[in-house]
Order: sequence, then structure tokens, then C-alpha cells
Amino acid sequence: MKRRAFLLAAASGGALLLGPKRSSLAASRLSLMHATPSDSKIEILTREPIGQIAPEIYGHLAEHLGGVIYDGIWVGENSRIPNLRGVRKSLVEALRKIKPGVVRWPGGCFADSYDWRDGIGPKKSRPRRTNFWQRASEWPAEPPDGPWKFETNQFGTDDFVRLCRLIGAQPYIAANLRGLPAKSFNDWVEYCNSPAGATTLADIRAAAGARDPFNVRFWGIGNESWGCGGNFTPEEYAAEYRRFTSWSPGNGVELSFIGAGPSDGDIDWTSRFFSKLAERKAFGSMWGWSLHHYSWNVSGGRSTDWQKGKGDALNYPEEEWYELLHEADKMESIITDQWSAMAAFDRTHQVKLVVDEWGAWYKPGTQAHNSHLLGQQSTIRDAVLAGLTLDTFNRHADKVAMACLAQLANCLEALFIAHQDKFVLTPTYHVFDLYSAHQHGTSIRSVFSSPPSGYIRNGRPATLRGLSGSASLNDRLLTLTVTNPDLKMTRETGISIPGTTIRAVTATSLTASDIHAHNDFDNPRNIEPLGVPIAQARNPLIFNFPPASVTRLSITLG
Ligand code: AHR
Repeated sequence: MKRRAFLLAAASGGALLLGPKRSSLAASRLSLMHATPSDSKIEILTREPIGQIAPEIYGHLAEHLGGVIYDGIWVGENSRIPNLRGVRKSLVEALRKIKPGVVRWPGGCFADSYDWRDGIGPKKSRPRRTNFWQRASEWPAEPPDGPWKFETNQFGTDDFVRLCRLIGAQPYIAANLRGLPAKSFNDWVEYCNSPAGATTLADIRAAAGARDPFNVRFWGIGNESWGCGGNFTPEEYAAEYRRFTSWSPGNGVELSFIGAGPSDGDIDWTSRFFSKLAERKAFGSMWGWSLHHYSWNVSGGRSTDWQKGKGDALNYPEEEWYELLHEADKMESIITDQWSAMAAFDRTHQVKLVVDEWGAWYKPGTQAHNSHLLGQQSTIRDAVLAGLTLDTFNRHADKVAMACLAQLANCLEALFIAHQDKFVLTPTYHVFDLYSAHQHGTSIRSVFSSPPSGYIRNGRPATLRGLSGSASLNDRLLTLTVTNPDLKMTRETGISIPGTTIRAVTATSLTASDIHAHNDFDNPRNIEPLGVPIAQARNPLIFNFPPASVTRLSITLG
């Protein structure tokens, strides 16, 4: 059966005739499609606002790691690949469409090895340096020669800020706290923000063609300082953090500092750091507290071993589908637990959460090219993971002020897979496209009730919560996004919005009849969102959420 016919029938509840070549999965989904009419409900409480959804929640990490910058973003000014002063043109065009709020750079772990001075001035005289990631154990073999091995510094601060301007995103720069002194950090801020003519560094910037200051507001103070960023204790990191941020001149910009927060739900790191800062009454210009949460899976729980416990990006049984989403769903409790731990010291919540690394992480083997360290394919499973996570951020719009998917291209849960002149949008890209409608909206409390999905974990019954999602209001336009993680069940759902009428509804869904469906260079448009006709725009609205899907409903209220 054609995917479009499947999707339309699933959503509108129409009868289906199956052709003889249908896949067994599609067949089983379809036979269960109407087993339990209206088994789910969503109630949207428009009078219960949570907070404004910051566009910065829809951000990305771009690290000098494998094929992210070189081959992904940067193709070089003299390339035959269409480019805008060296930046891949197709990537810029695709990013503009989804309105990324922020891009974080130059890492990740790379940031704590990077000297920003290497990446400014004439490109031909920039030094080559050993890339932080050169010795990573994840390389399938010896890394092939190239900038991922010996960093050429052809993409530096000016290029990064230009990329941000081309796509309309705010720059977020991670400082090197492990390898360089605070003075170098202050100089970097001065280079970026000082007006031309005011300082020598500003004049160097202007001489390179950037007369107007970059006005960079967001600065990360190290990265993963409990690990690759210095292996500090929280107390040691607090002292370094203070050294970097106290009396740090913004050169006309009110700087927003982001501290290097925990991995996953590490409360000890957060509590000890916050208690140390509180001792000196030193929250100062601290604006954000970062946290990183990656999803990888192993049956029966998550391995603590870095290398073990990662599944395959493309070949996975049903159990791994659910287990991965189960890992992603932990984001909810990680956010609320961290928020409570911070509240013990920062009672007014001056400091917000910045989830500046998140996404799925698989074992090597599906990367598009052997230079793409940590590169992986991305399927409909990753799309559901992305929708589920972005909905979590929207629901916590009062707590989460920024988030960055890891990473922008050719690495982990990327938006793009690119190699030389080949370029493809992943299913995750399409989710960001659907969800961009939430940006600047007011997040609204919505109550979901839907049966959980049952599956077998390590031979024993387990469950994953059913439908989940988020709602936001922009004037009279209500955006509702919903993920259905169930592999078999269509969820016929009554959606009610008390106290108002519905004037019009449009719906778009991303789904696939094969749970491993993905886009690649040979088949770049295998999976894309499709419009779903709505029979009747009424309140309550009845909608069928297809199995394994991400859906956006745009509802015009009366
Ligand atoms: O995104 C890849 C790496 O994962 C980042 O460099 C690091 O911060 C994290 O551990």
C-alpha cells in the first residue's frame, strides 16, 4: 500500500483495502486501527498558560567533530558545491525554513581544546592543530586525513557568526575553560562585541570584513566540566566559573552566562555547584545551567559503560524502539528534578535550564562517510524521539530557556546528512519544521489520557506512556503537537478545548509503515510530512493519530 493512502486512511478513519504486497507490519497496524474507538483524550486548557516558548529551545550544536563543520556546514569558498562564502547553500536554505533560535559552537568537548585566535585573520595563515577528537575510540579505523584529524581552522568565529546571521539564529559560544585562562575568554568577548575603532581586537575583526560588532550574548563557561572539560569536582568548577565570569566586560552587551551542568539527572553536581556559588552570592550574570541527556539503549536498562549499550541506528527490534523512547522520556523527570535542586539555592529561579545537548546516540556503522565520526542514520524512530523531547521542553517553557539538538549535520541525531555534493534532510529535520510553529507562542497546559504501549523488555512486560504532546497559543492560532509511540495502535482521540469554538483545523503527520524508514542519498524523500484532511472542524475534534507518528494540528479558535 502507498504510504500516502495509509496515512490518510489512518487519520480519517476510512475503510482500507489492502493490496497483496503489503508489509506484515503495515497489515497488523491496519487491522488494529479501529479496535478501540476514542480510547484517548486531550483536553487543552487555554486559560492555564505555562510560559512563553523561547525560540532558543529550537537550537542546535555545531561542533568541530568528524563531518559536522567540514563536509557538513563548510564546503569552502572555492568549492563547486553551491555555497555562500564557503557555507553550504542548501543547508542555509533548509535552516532558514525552520527558524533555528540558536546555534552552539565550537563544541562540545572540542570547545575546551580550542583557541579562538587560531580561527581569525587571513585563512591562508591559520595554523593546523591536532583535533580533540583525533584519538576517539569511536573511529571505525584510523581517521582519514582531513580537518577532522588536523583542524585547519578555516571555519572560525567570523564564519560562525556569519552562518548564524544567514539563518537568523543567535550565536552561543562555548569558552575554553580547561585549556585557556579567563583573560583569553575576555579577549574573545572583546573581539566579538567591541565596536570597531574602540579596541585593537575590534580593529582586527573589522579588518577581516566585520566592522559591526557581533554582539554575542550567550557564552558557555566550559563544557562537561565534570568530564572532558577538566574532570573538576563541582567545587573546583565553581571556583573556575567565578574566575571566568566575575567582572567580565560585555563590551556593550549584557552577557548571559551558561554554567556547565550535569550529565543526565546528576543532582549532586548541581547541588554542590549551586551551594558553592550561593556561598559567595555569586549568581551574578548566570543566566542558564546546561544539562546533557543522550538516549541510547540496552535491553533491561541503560549501560553505564560509554561504549556498550548502544543499539543500531537502522536495525532494531520493537523492544529497542520502545527502550530508546523510554530513555528519551526521562527528560521530563530530569528537568523537574534539576529545577527543584536549583530552587534550594536560587529561590527566584534567576537561572533557567539550557539542555544544550540531546538526541539519540547509536553505535558506529551507519555514517555516510568514514570521516563522519559519530555519524549515524536517522529514522522515523528518531523523529518520534525528537517530537517527544520538543514537546517536553514546550511543556516546561517556564524552566527550559534554551536547548540544542546534537548535532546539526553528520553527527548523532542530525538534521542533515551531507557528503560532498550530496545532501539530505532527515526525519528529525521535518519534526523541527513542524514544531517551529510553537516558537514565541504561549505554552498552554494540556491533559493527555491515552493507554500506554505495552512491550517486552528483557523477557518481561514493560510499558511506555501513550500519546504525549504540547499545545501553544499564538493569538487565535492554537498549535497542538502529538507523538504516538505505539507501533501498532492508531489512537482515535477526542480533543476538547473548553470555553471556545473551533473555526478551522489543518493537520500534518510524519509517519511510515516501516519502522526503520529513513532518507538517504539514493532515496532522499522517502519520509516526509503529509497533510491529513479533517472531516469536520468541531469542538471536541476527533483525530486518529497513526502508529509511530508525529503530528501537528493547527487549530484556529473562534
Ligand atoms: O556531542 C558529542 C559529545 O557528547 C560532545 O562533544 C560532548 O559534550 C558530549 O559528551
